[in-house]
Amino acid sequence: MERTLSIVKPDGVGANLIGEVLRRFEENGISVVALRMIHLSKKQAEGFYHVHRERPFFGSLTDFMSSGPCVVMVLEGEEAISRVRAIMGATNPEEADPGTIRKDFASGIEKNIVHGSDSPESAAYEIGYFFNQLEINSR
Ligand code: CMP
Repeated sequence: MERTLSIVKPDGVGANLIGEVLRRFEENGISVVALRMIHLSKKQAEGFYHVHRERPFFGSLTDFMSSGPCVVMVLEGEEAISRVRAIMGATNPEEADPGTIRKDFASGIEKNIVHGSDSPESAAYEIGYFFNQLEINSR
């Protein structure tokens, strides 16, 4: 079993896509083991995305991520990190496969509806950024 951190971003929450995103994970055998809605401050968004702090899009990304509420969740399943990324599709929706969340709903490379951890190391950091052990309910 593997855990990963996913976020329905402010554009996904604003478009009433919380249920759609959860449905796509759950129908693929990925279980939700922790979940919360949170409106990130700019500083909290910067802390979450600190690995991207040197990137030219960092300011815009953290403005966007603090522009409205998000749904943050811990997902669990066999190879959850890679499977969640496959369900989401490529970061740039123009490059995403048909039937993926980003292909179906994302408006651009930044406002791409959903986030998922990209490695075990980032999953550990990202899960710990939002949840403590007592809040994660393994099946
Ligand atoms: P995410 O999977 O959350 O990881 C980092 C985020 O930065 C990414 O999704 C996009 O929202 C954003 N991002 C990545 N690359 C770019 C880019 N070239 N321009 C703007 N935003 C980007």
